[in-house]
Amino acid sequence: MEEIKISQNLSKEEKYIELVNQVNLLIKHETDLIANLSNTCSAINEVHNFLWTGFYIVKEDELVLGPFQGPVACTRIGFGRGVCGKSWEEKRSIIVDDVEKFPGHIACSSKSKSEIVIPIFRGEDVFGILDVDDTRYGTFDEVDEKYLKKIVELIEKKLI
Ligand code: SME
Repeated sequence: MEEIKISQNLSKEEKYIELVNQVNLLIKHETDLIANLSNTCSAINEVHNFLWTGFYIVKEDELVLGPFQGPVACTRIGFGRGVCGKSWEEKRSIIVDDVEKFPGHIACSSKSKSEIVIPIFRGEDVFGILDVDDTRYGTFDEVDEKYLKKIVELIEKKLI
């Protein structure tokens, strides 16, 4: 597959359903993790036009920046720090409607107003996180969480 083909006229949920199918096609025959994370965040951002979509990978006691699409970002985030570190610590997804109201939020870009973070598991452990930021307040809801989790599950299957 060489191109993401999803109409911009679809609803958010319809776009996500197509996106999950196309990410599956993109990564199912490729074993290289960096290649798969790179194409996955590119596909998400291309379809939804978010400000920033990317991955942080757990390395020792920090999250380290991985493949992403969007403005340059902080390279290292400590356990429990910011939205990403909190998602790692609590092993759960976090939706933030207004980043200024999240205690300890790490502002990589002043344009970021809302955020969703989904942990990626390898067995019981957090392997990394998927982080998506947007320029508008309250962009992310349970629809984003449901389908971004499905995309993360496709990646988790490749980690076993
Ligand atoms: N805002 C995140 C940091 C990562 S950037 O948004 C890309 C946080 O608070 O963890």
